[in-house]
Amino acid sequence: MNEANPLWWQSGIVYQIYPRSFQDSNADGVGDLRGVIKRLDYLKWLGIKAVWLSPIYPSPMDDFGYDIADYKGIHPLFGNIEDFDALLEEVHARDMKLLLDLVPNHSSDQHPWFKESRSSRDNPKRNWYLWKDARPDGSEPNNWLSEFGGSAWQWDETTQQYYYHAFLASQPDLNWRNPEVQQAMFDVMHFWLKKGVDGFRVDVMWHMIKDEQFRDNPINPDYQPHESTVKKVLAVYSTDQPEVHEIVRKMRSVLDHYKERMMIGEIYLPIQRLMSYYGTDGNGAHLPFNFQLLTLPWEAPQLAAAISQYEGALPQHGWPNWVLSNHDQPRITSRVGMQQSRVAAMLLLTLRGTPTIYYGDELGMQDVPIPFAEVQDPQGLNMPDKNLSRDPARTPMQWTEENYAGFSTVKPWLRLANTYRRVNVETQKSDPYAMLTLYKRLIELRQSEPSLMWGSYIPVYSDQQLVAFIREASTGSRFLIILNLTHRPAYFKAEHITLEGIVEIATFPEDEGQRIKDYITLSGDAGLLIRLDS
Ligand code: NOJ
Repeated sequence: MNEANPLWWQSGIVYQIYPRSFQDSNADGVGDLRGVIKRLDYLKWLGIKAVWLSPIYPSPMDDFGYDIADYKGIHPLFGNIEDFDALLEEVHARDMKLLLDLVPNHSSDQHPWFKESRSSRDNPKRNWYLWKDARPDGSEPNNWLSEFGGSAWQWDETTQQYYYHAFLASQPDLNWRNPEVQQAMFDVMHFWLKKGVDGFRVDVMWHMIKDEQFRDNPINPDYQPHESTVKKVLAVYSTDQPEVHEIVRKMRSVLDHYKERMMIGEIYLPIQRLMSYYGTDGNGAHLPFNFQLLTLPWEAPQLAAAISQYEGALPQHGWPNWVLSNHDQPRITSRVGMQQSRVAAMLLLTLRGTPTIYYGDELGMQDVPIPFAEVQDPQGLNMPDKNLSRDPARTPMQWTEENYAGFSTVKPWLRLANTYRRVNVETQKSDPYAMLTLYKRLIELRQSEPSLMWGSYIPVYSDQQLVAFIREASTGSRFLIILNLTHRPAYFKAEHITLEGIVEIATFPEDEGQRIKDYITLSGDAGLLIRLDS
């Protein structure tokens, strides 16, 4: 990166919108594109650079849009292509960027490609998906499991073969070894890029290529019964195959036809494996999503070690990134608690690298308990005894204290938090102690201080309770960030650094303005961002 001139996706903040739940504009209880347009000024006010929209394409909605029936259209629930063009224009008019979700690993079974593929064994599109014979006893070709429960193989009566689906049976996996499939998906990318879309978040990037021999996955000796059934085997042959990098490189070269476009990869892998998705010589994904903050235990020693490991493992050209929540995971507030989620916000927005904020996290929205009869997520429905539904983290955005939280004028598709009358944008905007105020101030500072935006990360200290680091650049102030990841008071004594400065932002605003010299006493759940004297 050129320090003086970072690219937009390095200096800016990404905000994930789950379109069903952001803003309804046509009173059907489901969010839509015109609704997003209506709320762009809010995102601009918050200091967001790029909006990532979860899928908006035509889809039977078995997996809420991640089952795509037409890669180049807009689902009528969300609007039409004119609404999309208007959204893109409005985003750009605000000097913001728009990222689309690209789901290349699988389509819907309602996609014309799959309809053709399943119509006969000699259809030209047969080899666009992964078809295999049964084993001699009639059973599935191997032991691969679906993320949503049960076998990953579905028997097709008509053509007497199984097809592979890493997710629902209605989400057949495409065969990425087939050059025609590659071309078709690159064509989809060109379609949106030509319109002016600024890039993609690529769904399950590490799934795209499977073992050529379709060998059985090994049994996971550490499987726990409360876990999703997919964890019964280790996905060593069904995911993260070496040939995937060739595909990523090709996708990257599609993007490189255009100016300043970018690609985020959704990849749940340990640090070393994750790094390979940057590609050799920076020809892979611009940002392989770094999910450590949402997968590791919320404990100071683990986090401090992981941050340093990640920083240390990054390739020379690799720009870091951080995430606290998304539409597949519990919200940060529900994972670490309300008080700690303020500490988490400070961590997210002061680490080196691009932060992605999940809509509503800036309000401290919590996972909403969804009564069993109202569960909609297939992951929840298919494994009912395991509490794996993702609905709780997908509830409507809380804008105002009006009925239905200003999200809609009718009953929303998924129930709202019953706390929305006090937890909403309108109320929090004028509350100095609100989560929104903390986010807004952290963002403002991050975006105006070179050291926070692109300066280096220097670990300073960690113990059972604390994580402390410095951010510094060749120009502007230096900052010390010190976070107490526990509820008990903690003490920090500077040993190898000169510590003098003023608390500029704190998770407890009462701590702000305090002068610090050598020694700091922190209350439980405290996070301090200190502007150092020199
Ligand atoms: C990852 C997406 O984030 C998730 O929501 C979806 O269910 C699966 N991929 C399948 O597309």
